[in-house]
Amino acid sequence: MDVEEALEFVDHLALTTTGKHLDSLQKAILRGAWDNQKYKEIAQHHNRSEKYVKEVGFKLWKLLSVALEDEEVCKANIREKLQNWRFSNISCFGKDYIQIGSVSAETLHSLKISQPEPQDKDRFNEKTSNSEPEVHLDLADAPEPNLFYNRTSELTTLENWILGRTRLITILGLSGIGKTALTLQLISQIQHEFDYIIWRSLRNSPPLASLQTDLIKFCRGGVPVPAPSLSAPYPEERASTGGLPLLEYLRSHRCLIILDDVQTIFSSQQLAGNYQPGYENYGAFFKQLTESSHNSCLILLSWEKPREIAALEGENRPCKSLQLNGLGPEAQEIFREKGLAEPEKWSALIDLYRGNPLWLNIVATLIQDLFGGSVSEFLSYDTLFLGDLESLLHQHFDRLTASEQQAIAWLATTPESADISKIPENLQLSPPELLKVMQSLGRRSLVETVKQNGRSHFTIGPVIREYITNKK
Ligand SMILES: Nc1ncnc2c1ncn2[C@@H]1O[C@H](COP(=O)(O)OP(=O)(O)OP(=O)(O)O)[C@@H](O)[C@H]1O
Ligand SMILES: [Mg+2]
Repeated sequence: MDVEEALEFVDHLALTTTGKHLDSLQKAILRGAWDNQKYKEIAQHHNRSEKYVKEVGFKLWKLLSVALEDEEVCKANIREKLQNWRFSNISCFGKDYIQIGSVSAETLHSLKISQPEPQDKDRFNEKTSNSEPEVHLDLADAPEPNLFYNRTSELTTLENWILGRTRLITILGLSGIGKTALTLQLISQIQHEFDYIIWRSLRNSPPLASLQTDLIKFCRGGVPVPAPSLSAPYPEERASTGGLPLLEYLRSHRCLIILDDVQTIFSSQQLAGNYQPGYENYGAFFKQLTESSHNSCLILLSWEKPREIAALEGENRPCKSLQLNGLGPEAQEIFREKGLAEPEKWSALIDLYRGNPLWLNIVATLIQDLFGGSVSEFLSYDTLFLGDLESLLHQHFDRLTASEQQAIAWLATTPESADISKIPENLQLSPPELLKVMQSLGRRSLVETVKQNGRSHFTIGPVIREYITNKK
């Protein structure tokens, strides 16, 4: 077996197991390991950080360990392992069928290995596969992908929206619910739909002009934007792009732009989705990108829904939003990974913490630290223990207006769900004010709507209830 045969074999194995071909970095790692190269050399040659290459390599060996039913596959022995397997176990090795020892293609597929898709973090221009068109990726601003469970239906919805040429997608949800993780997974699935993919976080609140310059620079292959084209567009640009130079690039290439942490450009102590002074032009930018004709897509990840989205979105419109809820039973994997005891109690824990993966991770660590992994001991306390969640929730509550705080405190004291047609006297809000406030709390994913006898009632989750009760 030479290195090319090994690559073909492992690629086939990866495809059968995960549904995805090896990407260029995984191939480079395999080639490097075959030639006894160090991770450092592979990283230098491939223009990546050594840490990242090691991580991708580690995941690849893990995948091969499961696929080859051999726990000890690693960089040092991969060549030997593959050569041994080639002679002793592979009964048929071709394009359509693979049988490795007792492990068939179907068995491998059913193993459902959770293999986070390695993302191109450091490279600017890269061919991601020999047969696929070139995709230019800049994910330097995105976090590393991590373990990822399920979200199949959300991924299908997002993929359909993208294939259906939706121009603006907003993914909404509380901190930790998994907006960033979901979008990283989405990119790995749809990257070949696009010529350019760029991820930017708005955590440092960049003014729109500098964000636009940055995005255009990327779409120009790293060539800086001539100053006049941004501040005073050339006449022909002005006519066709409505004063938005980026539009020219979104028309000539299919680009995917992801803006993360969008809530940072909204004001605190104002109703949800109100821009900070100086950032109002973002609203016009989102509107223009939705209404102008182009084949690109902008994805916003936010705690709060931008105000204009509500007016722009619709089933047959190119603007959609996805309210991200918690994970279902698949969240049990988080507890399995953390080594918690009593699996029969895990679903109660998932319900209480609304399937929020970050909250579940925090709580699982807490149960390990304080109760030696015993979920029933943790659940035996009358009050819900929040621990490190308090500071996370504080970031959300810090943003509320005084009226929102009043309304949510009322919901916290209402045991089941509240009927807003029956406003209590101590709540000094008129019916129209209360409606506005409830809408805003909904746009912040803090309030849930339930139907009772055909009427909408409002409620809050147990964690939020506990937080507000403790605050008093
Ligand atoms: N589907 C999932 N399976 C396993 N872990 C997940 C999943 N989704 C998210 N996580 C984990 O939960 C944590 C929070 O996820 P993520 O950062 O994507 O949340 P977020 O909604 O982007 O939060 P924020 O608004 O604060 O940025 C991360 O550690 C992530 O790896
Ligand atoms: Mg995030």
